[in-house]
Amino acid sequence: MIVHNHEVVIIGAGMAGLRAALEVSKVGDVAVLTKVYPTRSHSGAAQGGMAAALGNLDGDNWEFHMFDTVKGSDYLGDQDAIEFMCRNAPELMYEVEHMGTPFSRTPEGKIAQRRFGGHTLNFGEKPALRACYSADYTGHVVLHCLYDQCVKNSVRFYSEFQVTYLIVKDGICRGIAAWDIRNGGLHVFNTKAVLFATGGYGRVYRITSNALANTGDGLGLALRAGLPLEDMEFVQFHPTGLYRSGILMTEGARGEGAYLLNKDGERFMKRYAPTLMELAPRDLTSRSIQTEINEGRGVQSPEQQAKGEPGDAVYLDLRHLGREKLKAVLPQIFDIAENFMGIDPAKDPVPIQPTSHYSMGGIPVTIQGRVIRDAQSTEVPGLYAAGECACVSIHGANRLGCNSTLDATFHGRHVGRTIARDLPSLSYHDLPPEAMREAQAEMNWYFDRSSGTENVADIRGELQNTMQKNVAIFREEKALTAQLDIIQNLQRRFKNIHINDRNQRFNTEVMEAYELGNLLNFVETIVVGALEREECRGAHWRTDHPGRNDVEWLKHTLAYREDGKIRLDYKPVVITRFQPKERKY
Ligand code: FUM
Repeated sequence: MIVHNHEVVIIGAGMAGLRAALEVSKVGDVAVLTKVYPTRSHSGAAQGGMAAALGNLDGDNWEFHMFDTVKGSDYLGDQDAIEFMCRNAPELMYEVEHMGTPFSRTPEGKIAQRRFGGHTLNFGEKPALRACYSADYTGHVVLHCLYDQCVKNSVRFYSEFQVTYLIVKDGICRGIAAWDIRNGGLHVFNTKAVLFATGGYGRVYRITSNALANTGDGLGLALRAGLPLEDMEFVQFHPTGLYRSGILMTEGARGEGAYLLNKDGERFMKRYAPTLMELAPRDLTSRSIQTEINEGRGVQSPEQQAKGEPGDAVYLDLRHLGREKLKAVLPQIFDIAENFMGIDPAKDPVPIQPTSHYSMGGIPVTIQGRVIRDAQSTEVPGLYAAGECACVSIHGANRLGCNSTLDATFHGRHVGRTIARDLPSLSYHDLPPEAMREAQAEMNWYFDRSSGTENVADIRGELQNTMQKNVAIFREEKALTAQLDIIQNLQRRFKNIHINDRNQRFNTEVMEAYELGNLLNFVETIVVGALEREECRGAHWRTDHPGRNDVEWLKHTLAYREDGKIRLDYKPVVITRFQPKERKY
């Protein structure tokens, strides 16, 4: 086992990890571990923009942004954290610009801004132009810019390293273990501070906009180390995933004026969100699409037409925007429609359906990014989290579009500053031999599965299909309870997996099995949280418990794994300026 010493190790090279690394590199020795090459991180798939009330094209200001984020969260977001982010978003945006991000421009040369769901002027009056964008490649250009900056500042990268173990002893984080995918072998990193920036877990579902790598690795490790996960029942379905594959078709398309049509050619959003129409927040828009589908107004695929089956898509209609504009401001989704569906979006509408996209919950942290272990906010010295894997909580029960690129970059920078401040008081600790043994034994277990009989892809497929069916946009007790049994059965089967490939180098069979083990470890927190929360709030919609219930459920969930079971606890929501109200759009 190779042992490395770095004062700070960051797991994940998306926007949050890179922005944090840049900050820490100013004061200390920092290494970034990533299971993919840094510029292949999933942040690069973000398309439509990054929210900040610059007011370049309208009278926007940060208080409108704060209000929209609170209302969008269905009042579950912590308002102190939301205010901190929205107030400082414009300054952050100019920093990102000055680092070299090539944003699209207004005719006067300012950063261009477009409309996005749930972002409004004057506390809900009309859509705001708030999303700063670079055509529909915003995540790609910001990610590359941050990576350039990290390289320039000599940040050390360990690319293609899969984190496998979080070393926490006596309540203190001491480091991590990681598998070297390229060469094989376990490496241990002895650190003063570990930052998880490991992203989301969309791969729990069959239809997802998420990369293959998005298997919630940080969440699984935190749970295994005895730490809780917060608000895991809130999973965002983005309204417009390309039909069947779930690939993101940016909300920026609707921001530019695209329509949603049902099979009758009706702009059905007028029945669900008469003021904001297609620019309603995602939870509401996804539910509206799913309702159209469930009530028989979905668009049929050619196979469904032939068999007389109901359609399970609606149309994203971009035709009226014209080829020239589409090629200029939405070139990526133009290509995606052509390459993956053979559709020319300037001529034909594109079939879409909601796609699992984002996790509002995650590892609970303070506003400063320090991981906490309980409802009393007891901190875990040396452990931090930022970006999608963390729950600050900015997004509450439903995230607004463009707030995640902002959250990742903003909190990446902020947690970097926290770590820089904490470093003088943090120290290296002895690595407990039993933890090193356990980490090695776990990897040995994967390489020693030749006599197992269960197929990893089968188990993963069943998990994704059943989560899609039982724990998606609409939820109810019977399906959630059934899903718990299904997961427990899959966990049993996982103990008997078969692995053919015993090579140490680039053993993708072992890596996929490891990722599945991780998914199976924390997925119950989504289901148990959803089962217990008997109300409708944001993305969590219980058909058997209509209505939001602030009296009993205006609180955050904390889920622990104890003795093989999930135990829930709760903590209060921080409410400062905006009292919970009925949400209308
Ligand atoms: O639709 C999009 O471009 C996605 C943005 C986001 O998730 O914030």
